[in-house]
Amino acid sequence: MLSYQHGFHAGNQADVHKHTFLLAVLSLLAKKARPLTYIESHAGRGLYDLTGEQAQKTGEWREGIGAIYEQSGLATPLARYRDVVARWNRGEAIMQLPGSPCIAGGALRKRDRLVLFEQHPAEFKALEQAMVHYRHAEPMRGDGFDGMLDVFTDHDPRHRLIGMIDPSYELKEDFDRAPQLAKRLVERVPDALVLVWYPVLSTGEAIAVDQGSFHSRVTFNRHNQAHRMVGSGMVVFGDIAENRRPLKVIDRALQAHFGGGATRT
Ligand SMILES: C[S@@+](CC[C@H](N)C(=O)[O-])C[C@H]1O[C@@H](n2cnc3c(N)ncnc32)[C@H](O)[C@@H]1O
Repeated sequence: MLSYQHGFHAGNQADVHKHTFLLAVLSLLAKKARPLTYIESHAGRGLYDLTGEQAQKTGEWREGIGAIYEQSGLATPLARYRDVVARWNRGEAIMQLPGSPCIAGGALRKRDRLVLFEQHPAEFKALEQAMVHYRHAEPMRGDGFDGMLDVFTDHDPRHRLIGMIDPSYELKEDFDRAPQLAKRLVERVPDALVLVWYPVLSTGEAIAVDQGSFHSRVTFNRHNQAHRMVGSGMVVFGDIAENRRPLKVIDRALQAHFGGGATRT
């Protein structure tokens, strides 16, 4: 059993990049009539307590969501993300942070489906509780790499599939496994889109990005000298032709916020 728990890192700068990008992409796709099935391989606990021991211990969220929570003049994608977080806190001081499953649950419609894999028993229990009000969400306990492939193998063809792969990268092999799975999924279902998040590390590990995929990569100051994470990357695999222009607009806003560092295709 791996030990990573996202509660220590929830709301950090990488989460702001990842969740802003995810919210913007899902909002874009939810404008189309076709129903969506959103599948997340590594869902986490869904909702994070920023007043709790884990978040307080690192304080990483202060440089992330904490820095933008009351900021005026944010670019639209960031303002929309901040507003989602503010709604979870009834517009008051920030205490809790929606993770990607709650962000997706709010962005999608009743006719859409969310399939959420989480392996850690305590995180899964929390995920089930967090998703209780989302009747279109199906938390599944188990391995998300295998589970996601199963959903892509046997899915309702009326739905467009949107995958999100967000491992903890505790294992170095995740840098290969995540993009390899994404490529396999979009080969299997050519009109699917699959997003992969990865950490930009000072030690240089990276994921292989296909020609034709869309890459949003930002850099930021590391939380402290012991940290290797110096940025955050999101790659969109699949047929992005019709969405390339709005994806660029989202990325431009993120680049401006984080201050550059782009390497995009
Ligand atoms: C980075 S966190 C997810 C954060 C979440 N996506 C978010 O943005 O709110 C990664 C999660 O993957 C879980 N995990 C690790 N290995 C897994 C596996 N093989 N299948 C499913 N979940 C796994 C961990 O317990 C952890 O909760």
